[in-house]
Amino acid sequence: MTIRLGGIIVGLAITAVLVLWSLLPGAYNYAFGPAPEKQPSYAFYEHGEGPEGGFAFDGAFGKWDMAQLQRGYQVYKEVCAACHSLKFVSFRNLRQLGYTEAEVDAEAKSWTVPGIDPQTGEATTRPGLPTDAFPSPYPNAIAAAAANNNAIPPDLSLMTKARHDGSNYVYDLLTGYGEPDPAKAAKVGFETPDGLYFNKHFPNVNIAMPPPLSDGQVTFADGTASTVPQMSKDVAAFLTWTAEPSLVERRQTGWFVVGFLLFATVLAFLSYKQIWAGLKPKKK
Ligand code: HEC
Repeated sequence: MTIRLGGIIVGLAITAVLVLWSLLPGAYNYAFGPAPEKQPSYAFYEHGEGPEGGFAFDGAFGKWDMAQLQRGYQVYKEVCAACHSLKFVSFRNLRQLGYTEAEVDAEAKSWTVPGIDPQTGEATTRPGLPTDAFPSPYPNAIAAAAANNNAIPPDLSLMTKARHDGSNYVYDLLTGYGEPDPAKAAKVGFETPDGLYFNKHFPNVNIAMPPPLSDGQVTFADGTASTVPQMSKDVAAFLTWTAEPSLVERRQTGWFVVGFLLFATVLAFLSYKQIWAGLKPKKK
């Protein structure tokens, strides 16, 4: 008995020593060590608020704004596609944005995708088919990095899922370009290196993506004025759709399920009343 008790005490003591040994240096540094050095860029980062008025798909009853998604697609096609792929989206998916089959066929054909020469087997290019995915603008990652100051433009298919609060983030990023306050920059020794661009909504503040949008850059068929905030909002909505095409459907299904469960609860309660009605002892 005493031996067993002694064993437990020794075991606990050894565990305690090991735990203290691993934690104490860190705790000491945390309490008395030098404060971690903050990058000067921290002084310039600003958390964005998303577009004014939010998105049409926000909230539990949100819906896609088809005209907006079509405008967003146009912005992607005419601006972003020069650098960013959209490899998890196929042309046929555009049917969901309200385009007809003939329009999708024509749209696919207007893109050039990589193909194979049926005679020689050599790599060639051909017009797109509805079943093709959106092509990458670069043949490979090395070419992409070489063209963009060593930064590879990421695929945008799932971008709004890959960043916290992604739809608002994409909007904030596209509208976050500008110049740092020169006095503040001089004070903390902050500068934007050559080949990078100041963007107060990018966590690192200096980004390798040049400001992609400028007022009036695209001409919207529906006459919407193409200001930078408008194009940013539209393309952010479009990229929300590419990342989760079933977003609105999923929420509607959710409401249906909640309604069904409520109904089932009422039903269960009524049948409980019915079954027990004759079995309960009568009050005297
Ligand atoms: C000239 C090429 C170019 C164009 C055009 C361009 N981008 Fe980029 N983009 C880049 C590069 C390069 C990066 C990587 C930046 C970095 O990591 O510093 C990037 C990064 C991004 C990111 C990721 C930022 C992050 O948090 O990591 C998003 C989102 C993005 N671009 C959206 C867009 C959208 C939307 C458009 C069209 C309106 C667009 N880009 C047009 C080159 C481009």
